[in-house]
Amino acid sequence: MKTVFVTGASRGIGKSIALKLGKDYRVVVGFTSSKDMADEVVEEIKKLGGESLAVQLNIADRNSVDEAFNLIEETYNHVDILVNNAGITKDNILPRMKDDDWNDVIQTNLTGNFYTSQRAIKKMIKNKWGRLIFISSVVGISGNKGQANYAASKAGLIGLSKSISKEVGSRNITSNVIAPGYIETDMTSFIDVENKENIIEQLSIKRIGTPEDIANMVSFLCEEESEYITGQVIPIDGGLTT
Ligand SMILES: NC(=O)c1ccc[n+]([C@@H]2O[C@H](COP(=O)([O-])OP(=O)(O)OC[C@H]3O[C@@H](n4cnc5c(N)ncnc54)[C@H](OP(=O)(O)O)[C@@H]3O)[C@@H](O)[C@H]2O)c1
Repeated sequence: MKTVFVTGASRGIGKSIALKLGKDYRVVVGFTSSKDMADEVVEEIKKLGGESLAVQLNIADRNSVDEAFNLIEETYNHVDILVNNAGITKDNILPRMKDDDWNDVIQTNLTGNFYTSQRAIKKMIKNKWGRLIFISSVVGISGNKGQANYAASKAGLIGLSKSISKEVGSRNITSNVIAPGYIETDMTSFIDVENKENIIEQLSIKRIGTPEDIANMVSFLCEEESEYITGQVIPIDGGLTT
């Protein structure tokens, strides 16, 4: 059975991905502070007959990433599929954006994914098989007012993933980016009803996305059938970017 590591799997999109993959893979549930919620995800997977482990890490910290991978490799030997999902926002318009807000978002959303991917890929190269899936955002393609740091970090993931896909394609390793639009999670819980209606107005599919909409594509990208898809950016946004 293959091992999947989903970062940020204690809630939101990552949780949905972990639960979906829990039926077919061993799932490592990454979290940074929500231990109870991560443990609940693990229990849910186990109840359905799956194998799972919660691992605490801060992706922004190289040592923390190394410690998490050491633990995963002691338990399951290696990671076959890495879903780089964890991410944060610290929004502000550019004139008001503090250095810390810029640096924290870039360090977590972009550099953190460099740390996890670099660590995972060494064993994937050795095994001549692997899947890297990055959860970016449509704002990494189009930009967004008040999100220069977040959009830059998410655009950076596209360059990172495309470069990886070229480096390791010959080893049966694919690397792809999923770019979600508006998805109902804690991250978007600040959007009020009126703004939600304005968002839905811009969409072809007349509803806000669900974490399951993203999990379904992640699941497909993990399968053998997707082996010829690499270096791609797949928007899942109800038609927002068309
Ligand atoms: N929701 C949307 O509309 C939307 C749209 C486009 C893209 N995305 C992207 O999709 C991903 C998931 O979003 P979401 O809405 O599900 O987010 P969320 O509900 O805020 O959950 C974030 C997850 O990331 C973890 N995390 C945060 N900082 C971390 C760090 N430094 N190290 C390790 N884990 C960390 C959190 O762990 P704890 O629970 O322990 O804090 C949590 O599991 C993010 O990359 C986000 O940018 C979301």
